[in-house]
Amino acid sequence: MSEKNLALLTFGCQMNKYDSEKIVGLLENSGIRLTDNLDTADIIILNTCSIREKAEHKVYSQLGRLTPLKKKNPNLIIGVGGCVAQIQGKKILQRAPQVDLVFGTLNINKLPGFIREIEETSARISDIDSNSDIDTDSAAIKREGAVQAWVNIMHGCDNYCSYCVVPYTRGREKSRTRESILTEIRGLSEKGFKEVTLLGQNVNSYGSDLSEGIDFPDLLSLIDKIEGIKRIRFITSHPKDLSDNLIKAMAELPKVCESLHLPIQSGSDSILQNMKRGYTSGEYLKNIDKVKEAIPEISLSSDVIVGFPGETDEDFEKTRDIIKSVRYDGIFLFKYSPRPETPASEFSNQIPNDVKQARFENIMELQKEITLNKNKKLEGKIVEILIEGNNKNDNSKLTGRTRTNKLVTIPTEGGFKKEDLTGKLIDVKITRANLYGLEGIIVGSRQ
Ligand code: SAH
Ligand code: SF4
Ligand code: F3S
Repeated sequence: MSEKNLALLTFGCQMNKYDSEKIVGLLENSGIRLTDNLDTADIIILNTCSIREKAEHKVYSQLGRLTPLKKKNPNLIIGVGGCVAQIQGKKILQRAPQVDLVFGTLNINKLPGFIREIEETSARISDIDSNSDIDTDSAAIKREGAVQAWVNIMHGCDNYCSYCVVPYTRGREKSRTRESILTEIRGLSEKGFKEVTLLGQNVNSYGSDLSEGIDFPDLLSLIDKIEGIKRIRFITSHPKDLSDNLIKAMAELPKVCESLHLPIQSGSDSILQNMKRGYTSGEYLKNIDKVKEAIPEISLSSDVIVGFPGETDEDFEKTRDIIKSVRYDGIFLFKYSPRPETPASEFSNQIPNDVKQARFENIMELQKEITLNKNKKLEGKIVEILIEGNNKNDNSKLTGRTRTNKLVTIPTEGGFKKEDLTGKLIDVKITRANLYGLEGIIVGSRQ
């Protein structure tokens, strides 16, 4: 049988990117190769996101674009996985006749079997059941990069924030065991990876469902001991569960980077309460003060939603106030988008889109000023950069990141070989800063 080609389109967050690395690995083990070319693919899979309405619409418009390919090649297998698949299940088969397979976020391991079945019987399959074993053999994961890797430490979310679909798309919170995580990271280190980013919807509650007596700071200190790994990052921390122990671990463990993503969502206490976030703006700010005191170089980032139902001008001002007072290095800003099944979508006082848009632009401007100002402070400083590889836009330059997760572009003048520097920690003097990143020159090597 000739080799089959897989085209994979990934939308959404890092969880989905990591799941896509699993999908590629699992299918490559069945002799299927990844291609960028949709026209020559035998299998096309969309790994979908449903966090906002727009993301979900994108799935159907993408599927529409695939119809002519299916007409040209009736043997083409079109699959839909990810968060939209998990919520909509066989509704997708009904709405999009060109789709052969719908699979969920909890049964990715079954994918090779689904593909085989479709090839043999031409069946149309929808299966979003949870698999008894969500974990994929980590050796099978086909990583996109060679320096930095994602490592999922827990699945699902139990928080049910009133606006959010994730608890419905990713199921109940379930921590991976310490041994399976450490085995995965040791394997990465052996392959030459230098940085891991631990993934979970609420990493601070890691371990609470395990009988191992382990929590997130414990896990960080175990990973910190793994030889070869130089940097540890994690997303996302939920503010309601940020413990003093975690702040201490971040301050003390040398490999844990000075970077914290702590989504505030809103600065107004009544909105926070209606969002069911479980903290007040005062409690949040107290935590931020503790973090800044323990880790003075910390870079902070956040998610912010504008236009949540009932958000008044006064509530919105409070969100501006908290952004001004924390001074985040960067934020991810969203207009509230009503999601089916979530309580907030039924709230009566929805905000008109023009108001959401104006608030969105207003905060965007405010944050740009803060980000630029913070980046400018690095001009002239010498910082440690982990080189990730060639710059995507200019092959003569390298790309790396500061420990605080800022992107740096570095020319390779002065006899430095690009290949020799990838995966290395380098001292770089920052020569220029702008809104989107930094530029710098190499002044020394650390290894
Ligand atoms: N677990 C993470 C968030 C994951 S979703 C946490 O709790 O911080 C990423 C971000 O998408 C959220 O932080 C939120 O800001 C945004 N988001 C989620 N649902 C949304 C919705 N219905 N409308 C607009 N933004 C939303
Ligand atoms: Fe969604 Fe809240 Fe869970 Fe984050 S913590 S994934 S916002 S329900
Ligand atoms: Fe991520 Fe989107 Fe799902 S943000 S968890 S891919 S809904």
